[in-house]
Amino acid sequence: MPGTRRVGMLTGGGDCPGLNQAIRGAVYKLEALGYECVGIEEGWKGMIGAKTTPLTRDIVEELASRGGTMVGTSRTNPFKKDGGPAAVLKTFKKLKLSALIAMGGEDTLGVAARLFREHAAPVVGVPKTMDNDLSATDFTFGFDTAVSVSMDAAARLIDTGRSHRRCMVLEVMGRHAGWVALYTGIAAGADYVGLPERKVDIKEMASAVKAAVARKKVALVVVSEAVELRTERKKDEPLDEFGHMLLQEREVGEQIAEIIQKETDIETRHATIGHIQRGGHPTLFDRILATRAGIRAAELVHERRYGQMVALRGNDIVPVSLDEATAKLKTVTPEWLSILDTLCRNPVRQRPSRWRPGRSASGLDRAPVREKA
Ligand code: F6P
Repeated sequence: MPGTRRVGMLTGGGDCPGLNQAIRGAVYKLEALGYECVGIEEGWKGMIGAKTTPLTRDIVEELASRGGTMVGTSRTNPFKKDGGPAAVLKTFKKLKLSALIAMGGEDTLGVAARLFREHAAPVVGVPKTMDNDLSATDFTFGFDTAVSVSMDAAARLIDTGRSHRRCMVLEVMGRHAGWVALYTGIAAGADYVGLPERKVDIKEMASAVKAAVARKKVALVVVSEAVELRTERKKDEPLDEFGHMLLQEREVGEQIAEIIQKETDIETRHATIGHIQRGGHPTLFDRILATRAGIRAAELVHERRYGQMVALRGNDIVPVSLDEATAKLKTVTPEWLSILDTLCRNPVRQRPSRWRPGRSASGLDRAPVREKA
């Protein structure tokens, strides 16, 4: 069609459930507004090499429930490649793109923000990440599905752990922020949760495990892959193009399990569910959030509101600047740590020193009676 405006769409960084639904929503809306869409394959790598795939309403129709991303993804950073940004700008021209929708986390959107800031590139962002660590949005799609998977894994570990009177350690993803571990731990009833935001206190963890096994014949410890341990970080650890550690090689869950067994004498096993959290059908929440995000991003393109990202605020999808969204990571706050402590710290139950008639049998609901000195 002569004069039809074209919009490119790419997904970058680790994939997550919801990306296909966001692509679908954006394609439906853009076609309705009279645009043509084109998929850019494998994130920013596809913008450097002008690698495309067709995107039409018919092609995306059956993506309503499918996990992953149909256009592929990569962790390519054009600003780390010689001539990378120039090649990206050339692709804008070559493909006659009037705009580009970039779907990704802080790295992918950081590139989009820079292209807009330094080169006035017409980009709009859609936030995604199972880590849920992007500022400026209440939730990112992918997170709800990832936590649902790990919550299910935790329940399965508790069953087998109880049968064997064991402590079970579940390691979940979360590169810089502990949101996945936090939500999994709270929702699954963990006895101890290890987060990157707070160093693991081995004594406290061991005593929580011992007390749990004594009470209910099983203990569950949930740890984030990025948790800080004493045995940390080799200097020559390999990094990706955005400078992040490749955490898959650390097996922190295994290390924690060894420590627990040594400290408590309780048989301990560990499971790392890794990429299982990133695959499969998205949950209802993620499907709806992603679809709305894709549609709103298409509207921002139509309104020429470049340099913006769509964000969930309360129950609304609103535009926020890419600069604001990528300025800093959203990590677990002290308020959340306090909720976790209420639920998981091994409370030292105050035993009443004298039983008094008329009170509950357990005595746990009354203040302890002070002994005379
Ligand atoms: O996308 C975020 C994330 O899932 C992190 O939680 C995890 O550390 C990382 O990706 C794993 O990356 P890769 O798929 O490259 O192994």
